[in-house]
Amino acid sequence: MEPDVLVSGKNLTRVYGKNKHAVKVLDVKSLEIRRGEFIALMGPSGCGKTTLLNLLGALDKPNGGEVIFEGKIISGQGEAFLCRFRRKKIGFIFQSYYLIPTISALKNVMAPAFPSGSGYKKRAMELLGLVGLAGKERRKPDDLSGGEQQRVAIARALLLDPDLILADEPTGNLDSATGAEIMDLLKTFNQRGKTVLVATHDQRVAECCGRNIRMMDGQIIQELK
Ligand SMILES: Nc1ncnc2c1ncn2[C@@H]1O[C@H](COP(=O)(O)OP(=O)(O)O)[C@@H](O)[C@H]1O
Ligand SMILES: [Mg+2]
Repeated sequence: MEPDVLVSGKNLTRVYGKNKHAVKVLDVKSLEIRRGEFIALMGPSGCGKTTLLNLLGALDKPNGGEVIFEGKIISGQGEAFLCRFRRKKIGFIFQSYYLIPTISALKNVMAPAFPSGSGYKKRAMELLGLVGLAGKERRKPDDLSGGEQQRVAIARALLLDPDLILADEPTGNLDSATGAEIMDLLKTFNQRGKTVLVATHDQRVAECCGRNIRMMDGQIIQELK
């Protein structure tokens, strides 16, 4: 293994349904993501981007093959390990933000550290400043724009200082100007050392990234460096 490989997938398959209804929706022979990369995972709706992201972030388990993170096979591990792994190593960002509507932006950012979140207030405030939301820490998600809500979600993803950021269509609910701002923000954190993988079907979003991986029908069909 190359020393700078952060995460890799080997012969990864994911099958939905059973017996004669079984459909293989993912079949990835080999994928390597190196530390510090900023990658777009491209392809049409239904090609398997979310499925692959969920396997790499251990939100889901493959039916075959392995996910290897920092040299350790994580795909066969139990839920307690995977829970700690996700918390420590992965920051997730989703198209619909998934903020908790009843609590402030600040508390949303601190949420990954709950129940012992109090020690993270200073860091959460700093992160909200870094994503451009200084002064809006006490607002609830409903009182923020879509772009601002995604900024809160980015700050939340960074709270526990993960190695890998997995962003699934992070600009999918935003207009193109706001989407470009969100991509700029992800680029800033990439330049500060985070490895970032963005699933998108938007070519403009992909152009912001350093490497494009293209998928079709569950397979990686082309990698542009
Ligand atoms: N829970 C599920 N059960 C059955 N089929 C699923 C499930 N999740 C996704 N699929 C199917 O797997 C394929 C890949 O889906 P997905 O990874 O969401 O693609 P993308 O994110 O590129 O749009 C699609 O054909 C989708 O319908
Ligand atoms: Mg998807």
